[in-house]
Amino acid sequence: MKNMVILTGAGISAESGINTFRDSDGLWEGHDIMEVASPVGWKKNPSLVLDFYNKRRQQLYTVKPNLAHYELVKLESKYNVSIITQNVDNLHERAGSKNIIHLHGELLKVRSQFDQNIVLDWQKDLHIGDVCKHNSQLRPHIVWFGEEVPMLDLAIEVTQKADILIIIGTSMQVYPAASLVQYITPKTPIYFIDPNPNISPSKQLTIIKEKASLGMSQLVEQFLTS
Ligand code: APR
Repeated sequence: MKNMVILTGAGISAESGINTFRDSDGLWEGHDIMEVASPVGWKKNPSLVLDFYNKRRQQLYTVKPNLAHYELVKLESKYNVSIITQNVDNLHERAGSKNIIHLHGELLKVRSQFDQNIVLDWQKDLHIGDVCKHNSQLRPHIVWFGEEVPMLDLAIEVTQKADILIIIGTSMQVYPAASLVQYITPKTPIYFIDPNPNISPSKQLTIIKEKASLGMSQLVEQFLTS
């Protein structure tokens, strides 16, 4: 089976009703991204940060995977599919995809401030005073700006083995996620699905200027019938 690597960003969840980051002038749900998604913001106003992620977590229970998430699952019948997502939602899992690497963390997990290896499943709101076994405050299990990306090495390893790379709904502005494309071989074809692609076509790169659901339906038909 050929290895198919899928890199997804906020755009794949847009049709499920989750706002992207940069389609709204750097404001995310009315907040400056740095206030709610950086260690500085967390230090300055942890309650605001917790409230922000509590709302995102609550929202997750009101949305569903969309066609694009389900189309990706179909590819598993013919390809060895690995998804590398920048999204912290669980829509790939809920659609039924098997191999998912969350580069930027997960909304339904929290971790200890004392030891970042203490990661817990978390479904409800997180509050000041919710602590780990070492009595240290729990924080969202999210990779904030300026923080290390613990899953990066695994993502690089998977990308290096790609026979085909599909990129869906990302502005390719956030590193190191955007740099993953550098790890494919010069012969690996890239398909980029985005209604507003922030990238130029080349011999290696085919751009599909569509929303994720339509673009994925077209591509899946092409891959499953070829
Ligand atoms: N289908 C596909 N793509 C879409 C759709 C759609 N229906 N709607 C919007 N898009 C595209 C936009 O054109 C844009 O290129 O999705 C992309 C979203 O870009 P960003 O908002 O920058 O999201 P993303 O690239 O995932 O951001 C990366 O930035 O703030 C951090 O950690 C956060 O993981 C996030 C990272």
